[in-house]
Amino acid sequence: MGTGPREWDACTYDRVAAPMTRMGSAVLDRLPLRGDEVVLDAGCGSGQVTAKLATRLPRGRVIALDASAAMLDVARKTLAAFENRVLFVQSDLSQALPTMPALDAVLSTATFHWVAKHHGLFDRLADRMKPGAHLVAQWGGAGNVSRVTTALAAVGHAFDGLAGWPGPWWFPTAEEVADQLVAAGFDVAECWLHPEPVELDSRADLEEYLATPILVAHLARIAPQEHQRLITAVADRIPDRRIDYVRINVVARRSVR
Ligand SMILES: C[S@@+](CC[C@H](N)C(=O)[O-])C[C@H]1O[C@@H](n2cnc3c(N)ncnc32)[C@H](O)[C@@H]1O
Repeated sequence: MGTGPREWDACTYDRVAAPMTRMGSAVLDRLPLRGDEVVLDAGCGSGQVTAKLATRLPRGRVIALDASAAMLDVARKTLAAFENRVLFVQSDLSQALPTMPALDAVLSTATFHWVAKHHGLFDRLADRMKPGAHLVAQWGGAGNVSRVTTALAAVGHAFDGLAGWPGPWWFPTAEEVADQLVAAGFDVAECWLHPEPVELDSRADLEEYLATPILVAHLARIAPQEHQRLITAVADRIPDRRIDYVRINVVARRSVR
């Protein structure tokens, strides 16, 4: 029930991750690469976006970092073909990062909103990056999944463990992120929000997607026999099965000064 990183149902995530992989692939396209760099995927999950990154680094290396042992287990399978070029690291982005080779770039997709101690996150990354290294990232921004948060505000009080809990997410504005990046020593090329709605095909798909990934932290705080009641209560409030994602995007470089 803590605020630290949690375990995920990694096999389910891998199965339902298509929207995340689509969004993450577009983020990866923003990262200029020669092919011989050392690149951190900060929050690699089950490794689907990481595999696309590894394909672009035929002479380079990927550091696939995640807090979840289950996610890393699935990522090892996803990335088996690149094994000699991938270093797997279990680490919490809320804490000081472990020693690793100096980074030419950091990629992160759909992860930073889960990092409990986001203050200092960019400093911790900058500490491992070469001057001029790229940071290309996307996660949930201000207004993200507002229909889910509205539903949770309406029903959360009826669940032990959720009443009064502010929730796990950091959904910042572009201004807040740009300020934090500059303070951590980044030159910010672009930082912007954009809507990225995802419509699930059926009520069953919506419920599965709510369970993993969206409500993973909420479900961890309530009794297992209450899980379906929460999923049903939230899904009832999204009758068109549309998740109103709003993503925040960052293209920045660690300052060379
Ligand atoms: C929604 S998944 C995204 C995975 C992948 N980047 C993708 O785009 O499919 C979020 C990932 O962030 C990881 N995560 C959450 N909090 C973390 C933390 N504090 N430190 C490291 N990883 C964390 C989770 O374990 C999970 O694998």
